[in-house]
This record gives sequence, structure tokens and C-alpha cells, in this order.
Amino acid sequence: MRISFPDGFLWGAAGSAHQTEGNNVASDFWALEHRPGVLPERSGDACDGYHRWREDLDIVRDLGLTAYRFSVEWARVEPAEGEFSAAVLAHYRRLIEGCLGRGLTPVVTLHHFTSPLWFQKAGGWRAPEAAGRFRRYVRAVLPILGGVEWVCTINEPNMLAMMAGISRGAGEREENAAGALPPPDREVADALIAAHRAAREELAGTGPKSGWTVANQNFEAAGGAEAERDAWAWPREDRFLDVAADDDFVGVQAYTRVLVGRDGALPVPAGARRTLMGWEFYPEALGGAVRHTAARVPGVPILVTENGIATADDAERVEYTTGALEGLHAAMADGADVRGYLHWSLLDNYEWGSWRPTFGLVAVDRRTFARTVKPSARWLGGVARAGGLP
Ligand code: BGC
Repeated sequence: MRISFPDGFLWGAAGSAHQTEGNNVASDFWALEHRPGVLPERSGDACDGYHRWREDLDIVRDLGLTAYRFSVEWARVEPAEGEFSAAVLAHYRRLIEGCLGRGLTPVVTLHHFTSPLWFQKAGGWRAPEAAGRFRRYVRAVLPILGGVEWVCTINEPNMLAMMAGISRGAGEREENAAGALPPPDREVADALIAAHRAAREELAGTGPKSGWTVANQNFEAAGGAEAERDAWAWPREDRFLDVAADDDFVGVQAYTRVLVGRDGALPVPAGARRTLMGWEFYPEALGGAVRHTAARVPGVPILVTENGIATADDAERVEYTTGALEGLHAAMADGADVRGYLHWSLLDNYEWGSWRPTFGLVAVDRRTFARTVKPSARWLGGVARAGGLP
């Protein structure tokens, strides 16, 4: 074995409710998709994951992976304020039991970008009641979390805060991961921190470890702009990492890097190799993100909750992931306490406005929903079975 990972290291794949389930009609994002001219494509039936989850879990198990990350959809659990659906909660309980029964470790996210439309109409994260509303939802989910060891409260709060207030047109995300977005909305960021803390309070003592997952952007100083880079990184990333200092774990999610010069983020360098997101092809992102996180919140265990590449060339996915795992391993050899690696994504799912960027280990026929396992999935399963890179 060229590179081996510790025993018990989790190897998995990830997805989120809105991107995979289909017909998330009570959510704010569904409403956004149906506003004319905002986004190029709609989620529609997505991957019909709400009905086909058994097949998906079978694929994850048969590949040899040991973990599956998914999200519980607030807009389904509480489609109208204060009205909780017992049937939807039972659905997610079956999903959790489906993981446990197959020997898969479920990694459950409570909020992955989408909120109920009623929540948004009532002021969203800017409403004074926002954290309390999220707490009430978390309380409703608690009874179904038996046997769950890992709970992510809020996915990428820093991205959510950056996207607040702008309509999320694909073009804005295409230039680079974060450089083209406005600075995080301070009010929304504060509310997300309060909501995270409220969720952690509710979860405390109930069993699972809880933490949140941060979009790690590998801000790199260009031309000696170290001070400007640090100032740029604090509201966009480091502030959210610092919140995790007291948490049970922190989720690292890394795809690319963003160069920062004296006047802020720079475009992707001319001639750089790019992914289908327009981001720089940069497998070193994962090792860099893990090192940065470990230095920022020393002693807090890390779970890689997302890493992957949007590409139509599946061999490129293997190339990217090999580089990412090498960087991860080196960071661990230097002391980073990393408990697992969850690849984004299991399925070619809905990429927030477009179906074009394919991140999946598994292709999905958009009409029949038939799943086709790609060679990269078998490759990652092999890595998991071997516990490292041969
Ligand atoms: C999100 C995912 C998204 C992925 C690729 C992360 O920002 O958590 O929902 O699909 O990156 O853009």
C-alpha cells in the first residue's frame, strides 16, 4: 500500500435533499427556480431519491463504502409553520435505519441550503425568530436520530451568508468558488451562528456528535497580499471555523482555491485547467483546507464532508481524487485528526440551477432515473476496501 488510512476511517459519498429527492415544493429554492429568468434549470423530480433511496444505499454498500451523508429537508418536515409531518419524519427514520441495516454510517445534515418557503417569507435568517424556528425544527427531528453518530447542523453557513440577498444565478458561481460572491451578510451570518448553537444545545446529550460544515476556499495570497488575504478570509471562512472551536467535530468541504490580491479575490488565472464549474482544477485544495482548519481549531476532529469535481470525464475524477487523498494523507501524517472522507457526490444531482456540472460517482438518467455506476465509483470503493491507495 502506497498510502494507508487508519482503521475505522469512514469512506463515503454525499448528497443533499433538494439536489437528489425531487419535488421539494414547499422550499424557498423551489420558489426561486420558478421565478422567471433567475436560474437556467429547475430541480423537478431531481434524481427521485425520495423514492429510490434503497437503491442508492445498496450502491453505496456494494461499492465497499462505509458511510453516506444526506440531509433531512426542513421544508418537508415542517411545510407550514408549526405543522410537522409525522410521515416525512418516518421516511427519514427509514433512511437512517436503511443505512444502519446495511452497515453504513449515516452522516445527517439538518440544513443544506434550503429552508421552507414560509420561513423565507417570514423574514428568513434576518427575522429575530430565525434561530428559535430552527431550534423548534431540530427538536422535531431529534426523536428519529437514534443510532446516528454524526450530525451536521448547517451546511456551509459561510456560503449561505454570501448568497443571502443575491439571486443565485449560475454565472455568479461560475467564475470561482467564492471570489465572485459578495461578502457575507453580517446579519445572516450572526443568525446562522445563533441557529447552529441552538441546534447544538438541542442535540447535546442525545447521542450524536454535532458540528457544522464549512466551505473551505483555500484563500491564497498573491503578490505578497498576506494581510489582505487574511482580512478577506475572516468574514468569508475563518469566522465560521472559529465557531467550531467548541464543537464535537468540524466538516471540511474543499474543491478549489481562490487567489487574493491587494484588491480582493482574483479571477482564475488565464490558462488554468478548469472544472465544469469554471473553478480551477486544484486537487491540493483538500490537503490545504484540512491543514488550515486543523490550525484554526486545534483539537477539533475533522470529517471531510465534501470533496469532488464536476467533470464529464470520469478518469479526471479519479485523477482529482487521487491528488486530493494524497494531500489529505500528508496533512494527517502532519497531525491533522481526520475521521473520514465523504466524496461529493454520490449521484449526478441538481447543481443549484443547473444539471450540467456532473459531480457524481453515479450517473442518473434524467427520464428513467436509472442509476449507472461510473468507474470512479468502483475505484473509490476499491480505495475504501483497501484502506488506502495502492
Ligand atoms: C454544496 C453542495 C454543492 C457543491 C458543489 C457545496 O457548495 O454543499 O450542495 O453541490 O458544493 O458546488
